[in-house]
Amino acid sequence: MERVIPTKIVIASGYKEMSSLAASFVAGLVQEKPDLVMAIPSGRTPVGMYRQLGGMYRKGGLDLSRATFFLLDEYHGLGPRDKGSFYHFIRQNFMRLVNVPAVHVPDSRFPDAVEAGRRYEEEIASAGGLDLAVLGIGVNGHIGFNEPGRPFDSRTGPVNLTPETISANARYFKTPAQVPREAISMGLATIRQARSVLLLASGAPKAEAVAAALAGPVTTTVPASTLQRHPAFTAIVDSGAASLLSGFPQKG
Ligand code: PGA
Repeated sequence: MERVIPTKIVIASGYKEMSSLAASFVAGLVQEKPDLVMAIPSGRTPVGMYRQLGGMYRKGGLDLSRATFFLLDEYHGLGPRDKGSFYHFIRQNFMRLVNVPAVHVPDSRFPDAVEAGRRYEEEIASAGGLDLAVLGIGVNGHIGFNEPGRPFDSRTGPVNLTPETISANARYFKTPAQVPREAISMGLATIRQARSVLLLASGAPKAEAVAAALAGPVTTTVPASTLQRHPAFTAIVDSGAASLLSGFPQKG
C-alpha cells in the first residue's frame, strides 16, 4: 500500500457537526484569502455546510463576494434553467443563501464535450488555479463524477456515469429515464492540483467508500484514494461514515 502523506481525518458526531466543521474550515480559508478560488460539490452531503455558511453570512461573519466558485461537475445537456441541473441545485442550496455573485459551471450543452472540458480548465487556470476543492464521495468511491477506472491524470472532460451513480441520482428527477447518463466532470488531476482538498462524508452507506478511500490502497478502482497523495488533504466524516475506519483518533 502506498501511503505517502498522512491524511488529516476529523470524525464528527453526526451530519450537523460535520457540516459546521466544514463551514468553519471554508470560512477560515476565506478569512485568510478573501479571493479564494474554490471547487464546490452538489449532492446531499454539502447542503448542511452551505446552510451554515449562509448563517455566517447573515450574521455578518462571512463575505464571499470576492471568492470564485467552480462547480465540480454538470450533467451533459442540462442547462442552468433545467431543474435537474447541478447549476439549479447550487443556485437553490448555496447562491440564494450567501453573497456569491456567480458560480462557474462546465458548459455541458456545448456540442463538443472535450472542448467544453478544456475551456473549463482554462477558466480555472485564469482564475489562478483552485485554492480549495470541497468534495463529497459516492458509494463507489467517486469524487466529482470521476467513476472507478478514471485515470488519475484525467483533466476536465466528458464522463459516462455508472448504473450505480445513475440510480443514486434518480431522486432528483421525476422518472428514472430522465436521469442523464453522461456528464462533464473536473478531472482527478484537476482536483488534485487544488492547493487544499476537503472531503466530506456522512452516514453508514458511505463507510465502505470512506475506508477504501482513506485507508485502502491507492488505486483507480477507488478514485478518491488518489487524495492520499495530496499534501493538504483533510477529511471531515461523521461517525456513521467513519465506522469502518480503524486506527484514527476520534475528534469531535
Ligand atoms: P451525495 O453524493 O452527497 O448526494 O451523497 C455524493 C457524490 O455522489 O459524490
